[in-house]
Amino acid sequence: MSFAVAGDTYDRYMGRYSVRLAPLLVEFAGVEAPARAIDVGCGPGALAAELAARLGAAAVAAADPSESFVAACAERTPGADVRLARAEQLPWEDATFDAALSQLVVNFMQDADAGVREMARVVRPGGVVASCTWEYRAGMEMLRTFWDAALALDPAAPDEGRVMRFQDGDELARVWRDARLGDVETAPLDVAVDYRDFDDYWLPFETGTGPGGTYCLSLSERDRATLREECRRRLGGPTGSFTLAARAWAVRGVRR
Ligand SMILES: C[S@@+](CC[C@H](N)C(=O)[O-])C[C@H]1O[C@@H](n2cnc3c(N)ncnc32)[C@H](O)[C@@H]1O
Repeated sequence: MSFAVAGDTYDRYMGRYSVRLAPLLVEFAGVEAPARAIDVGCGPGALAAELAARLGAAAVAAADPSESFVAACAERTPGADVRLARAEQLPWEDATFDAALSQLVVNFMQDADAGVREMARVVRPGGVVASCTWEYRAGMEMLRTFWDAALALDPAAPDEGRVMRFQDGDELARVWRDARLGDVETAPLDVAVDYRDFDDYWLPFETGTGPGGTYCLSLSERDRATLREECRRRLGGPTGSFTLAARAWAVRGVRR
């Protein structure tokens, strides 16, 4: 799956959701100035930018294994400490931060349990570790529409509602407790995104971004056109603008 795309390509696909989700996650995590915080799996940096607006860029760090995303995040959040790194091996000392957050990342970690343990390690005792992930099975209309259309044409399509390990609060809370985090709480986070027209929805899939885009590009031109028309039909054949809702589940816990 590809996150080796430019920051603005990602923005048109998922980043337009990330900027709306970031303030909700920061508030759920209870991060307030003065505090030092890290955005793990930062992508082009929607959450890092939100943290920088609240805490000051000098109090913010960010990490991602995608070179193009690290470059975009560093450019968009000047003064933040942005590094090329995976969650499972964060290049910061123990107890460096008051908060470690990650947005839409735990499902993409190679070893989510190790990644969350690392997030806890770099946070001081009493600090917070928080994340969120889409409710792929039901509440994320942009992806649900795409995968339901794909499944109707190809029952073996790698529906994120089936392949993603974490999709609700209980699934996330288990990992947080296993990482020995205390006071674990979960909550739904709801956002909505406006689309200008159907192309505004569809064309980002053709950039190959994320699992949906990767699947889209794996299809023949003919199958891709059939999938596009099935998505259009499932969205009600929009001729102008429309809005899609998306629900994420968030989890927070405190480093003991
Ligand atoms: C869906 S994007 C989310 C990006 C950003 N947090 C946001 O809210 O838009 C998933 C991100 O996880 C990153 N990623 C993949 N494997 C990772 C790992 N092992 N550790 C940390 N980040 C990882 C990808 O490069 C990508 O930026």
